[in-house]
Amino acid sequence: MCGIVGFVGEKDDALPFIFNGLKHLEYRGYDSAGIALASRSGIAIRKTQGKLAALGELLEALPSGIPCGIGHTRWATHGRPTNENAHPHVDCQGEIATVHNGIIENFHTLREELIAKGHHFQSDTDTEVIPHLLEEYQGAEDLVGAVRRAETRLEGSYAFLAISSRDPDRIVAVRRTSPLIIGLGTTANYLGSDFSAFLSATKQAQILENGDMAVITPHSVMITDQSGAVVDRPVITVDWDIKQAERGGHPHFMLKEIIEQPDVWGDCLLGRIRDNEVVTEEIGLTSERLARYQRIQIVAAGTAYHAGLIGKSLIERLARIPVNVDVASEFRYAHPILNKDTMVLAVSQSGETADTLACLRLAREQGAFTYSITNTVGSTVARESDAVAYTLAGPEIAVASTKAYTTQILVLTLLALSLAKLKGREHPELIKGLLQLPLLGHKVLNGKEDIKRMAARMADTHDVFYIGRGLDYALAMEGQLKLKEISYLHAEAYAAGELKHGTLALIQEGVPVVAIITQKDVWEKAVSNILEVKARGARVWGIVDDRLPASLPIDHYIPIPIGHALLAPVLAAIPLQLLAYYTAVARGEDVDQPRNLAKSVTVE
Ligand code: AGP
Repeated sequence: MCGIVGFVGEKDDALPFIFNGLKHLEYRGYDSAGIALASRSGIAIRKTQGKLAALGELLEALPSGIPCGIGHTRWATHGRPTNENAHPHVDCQGEIATVHNGIIENFHTLREELIAKGHHFQSDTDTEVIPHLLEEYQGAEDLVGAVRRAETRLEGSYAFLAISSRDPDRIVAVRRTSPLIIGLGTTANYLGSDFSAFLSATKQAQILENGDMAVITPHSVMITDQSGAVVDRPVITVDWDIKQAERGGHPHFMLKEIIEQPDVWGDCLLGRIRDNEVVTEEIGLTSERLARYQRIQIVAAGTAYHAGLIGKSLIERLARIPVNVDVASEFRYAHPILNKDTMVLAVSQSGETADTLACLRLAREQGAFTYSITNTVGSTVARESDAVAYTLAGPEIAVASTKAYTTQILVLTLLALSLAKLKGREHPELIKGLLQLPLLGHKVLNGKEDIKRMAARMADTHDVFYIGRGLDYALAMEGQLKLKEISYLHAEAYAAGELKHGTLALIQEGVPVVAIITQKDVWEKAVSNILEVKARGARVWGIVDDRLPASLPIDHYIPIPIGHALLAPVLAAIPLQLLAYYTAVARGEDVDQPRNLAKSVTVE
């Protein structure tokens, strides 16, 4: 939710760096954007509603050669996406500018207080209270002192950057929950909501902790904690390559991320299987630790929740340990019963999802062990968990999650195998299946052009049904979400056997149904469900085990080579992702940045 970038250098021009950094953060929000530069002659600012490209057209009006500035790309929470509500926001004198990610919960009270003192507000945002508070305090203090005082007044989860024309050689940054990272250069230092903001310049970074304030100049970084004491946060080296965060010749990040999955699966599994066994330590756990838990509670949102559903099935089948899976936004308010015998497992690509984080904190309060599966090193979820496993999928930029989802399933499979081993249940054939996956994944991708053709037919439909049984039902839920979020077609997933209990009434001539059949134990029953919808005139896209005959009553036949049946969802996810992708492209939608959504959901 919202991307923020800061640059302060010796003499380099801040503007191109900030604009480039925003390009890499645009996935976090893209309804408006802006940049402010600070020099002794004042704050120069340009901002606009719309995508970053619209801001690009305004930048010529900004002065060049100014080495200090901040930028923002917005996902609206308070106030519509208008020019006025775009960040940066400034004080009455135009001497202070701020960019902000998160929510200031007590903004209403502060705003009234500041208006009563004569401040003039220009936007509907919660953010605008920050520059006015700073203005209020800057009379007596420098920018650093003003920020220190102002932050004691702010409530909520947020991160913000502030610059001032009185102190144009520094940026003051505050982190309260929302992520903020410092990039360490030689003639400049940087700030970003995530690493990709400054990867083009440096791989050395310091992650601010919750409650930290940082003052960065071209040659220094000073971090203080909530008590005001100077602290030293570890310097880490980011192993992401800037190339990984670029499209690499593909028309969209989503297509690139779908196509790279087989290779990414190899990366995710590398070193985690030795002598046909899972190396439990390589997923952040030990056998002694795992042996302590009687129950597992998975919490996650969206696609990560769908991965959790598959994880539940795998763990219960292989290890016979009961697993609950809950949507994080529900779980956090459901008065859950947790204790030291429970492992609470958070699944989150970004590692910053507010609801998932809240569940982790609740779990810790209740004495449960917290474990997370995330793609983002140094993310809040990773740092606040007792143990963590990384999915190692590389940066996922498209808002629609693809490679993060399939690697989450892989790590959950490794967890299930580790738990099973403790119970004396070995599954060598599943280990073999894992190692075969990259090869099979490439085979599935060979059918890409066929799926593109089949998607052309999907593009002019509406109300698409996804059906499956068992693991295929869990996968159907992910398939329908992919289609909805990028093509804006209405889609719903149903357990195939449930159709006849009501939903079948909606099936009539031409209604699109995507049927998934990869699980041999329910082949016949699932085929019967296809016959039921065909008998009522449905048009069926069948993503099916390639051992099922092409003569099935399926209109668009998408065969999947099945290695191990429990891993079939990982392979079958590819055609579902491609079907959604090509449908959205055929409908002319903005695939990587679908309306109303953002990659990292850091608000409730
Ligand atoms: C998936 O395509 C969506 N972008 C969304 O459902 C996402 O999975 C969800 O917001 C959870 O995000 P997280 O994995 O970063 O926690």
